[in-house]
Amino acid sequence: MSAAVDVDLLDPGLHARGELDAYWRRMRRDDPVSRHPVGGGARAFWAVARHADAQAVVRDTRRFTSAGGNMLGTLLGGGDPAAGRMVVVTDGPFHTALRRLLARGFGPRALGPVARTVERATRALLGAFVERGGGDFVAEVAARIPLRAICELLGVPTADQERVLRLTNAAMLTEQSSDAAAEPAIEQRIARNEILLYYTRLAAERRQAPGSDIISLLVEPGPEGRSLTDEEVLLNCYNLIIGGDETARLAMAEGIRALTEHPDQWQRLRDEPELTVSGTEEILRWSTPVVHIGRRATHDTELAGRTIAAGDVVTVWNTSANRDEAAFADPGIFDLARQPNQHLTFGYGPHFCVGAELARIEIRALLTELRRTVSAVEVVGPVPALVSNFLRGPAALPVALTPKKQPQESS
Ligand code: HEM
Repeated sequence: MSAAVDVDLLDPGLHARGELDAYWRRMRRDDPVSRHPVGGGARAFWAVARHADAQAVVRDTRRFTSAGGNMLGTLLGGGDPAAGRMVVVTDGPFHTALRRLLARGFGPRALGPVARTVERATRALLGAFVERGGGDFVAEVAARIPLRAICELLGVPTADQERVLRLTNAAMLTEQSSDAAAEPAIEQRIARNEILLYYTRLAAERRQAPGSDIISLLVEPGPEGRSLTDEEVLLNCYNLIIGGDETARLAMAEGIRALTEHPDQWQRLRDEPELTVSGTEEILRWSTPVVHIGRRATHDTELAGRTIAAGDVVTVWNTSANRDEAAFADPGIFDLARQPNQHLTFGYGPHFCVGAELARIEIRALLTELRRTVSAVEVVGPVPALVSNFLRGPAALPVALTPKKQPQESS
């Protein structure tokens, strides 16, 4: 019997920061690919703890496919309804074609203007936040930057953005729930329908008059020589929102918390501006907002000495891989200067996060503004953790900020 079964990885309450550190350390050493029975043992899933094995799984879409789902809950629940249509749960030539389209939308030409929007928004939001002396960093700053950036990329007109942001936030409240069976509240369902309707209209407009935004790219004749259907366009817009909103918000919030808990690193960030680049990577490793990535084995295979059967659900645990002693020197130390830093926060291989560069831009902008305008940050209340087995990080972060005496515009 493996040592694994004493922890129920499906339990959404368990994955808050740090709670499973000792467990994962033990699993990396003693049982790196462990079998976890569910539903009284009739079914089971595999949990991969080591960095190298995690990479081996997610890079090999022939052996381990995402077509069917990439979250434990949906995989065990029968599969993702968007399978084969939404990029993150599609494999093969259609996935390659979708990636090619999206890659253009996230290229340097598209991201340049978005980066400037992010920098402006961060400056304004953080500036007002500092003036107020602080508040809930999640609600007042971190929640407002990623969605705005995604709206820009999708070509949502500025005049519509506030409404779209409000509706998306309302709709996404359901995504926070780790309970796959939970019925969304009626307001959330209405918000979700309204947002889908909004994007349907926008897609119809772009089919008539294309621009340079991602929706225009998605409606172009493309994958397999045909245009995407309205539904495929919608699902892939939605993928950008669910992939890029909450994840980046959690990374930013956890990054701020880590800086408050490691005053030496906060001091280094203030003294050494060049640390914003490696510091961003360390915040991504440290926060690991996506807890696990799920796959299904396409045929009988072997992984680290274990026999995996065709159809088995295989999950890789980023929270463990990003603390693997074999991949990181002193993984339990938060070090803004860490090099190398091959974290798996954005996944790896063919499904590597398409929005990784945007997320980095957002975190770098935050660090730059923080060191420019803030002399001290302090957590001043309880920090509730998100309750989920897929995402983790602070659901709220009450902080007090002390402004720098005379912020220099140009520093
Ligand atoms: C800190 C922020 C982020 C984290 C931690 C994160 C994490 C991830 C991970 C782990 C994957 C791989 C999933 C898998 O292999 O099944 C992924 C894929 C993806 N992410 Fe992100 N992401 C972030 C930001 C973003 C942003 C800003 C966007 C877009 C606006 C985005 C859009 C996507 C999309 C579309 C995919 C699917 C790519 C594919 O399947 O080929 N993500 N992300």
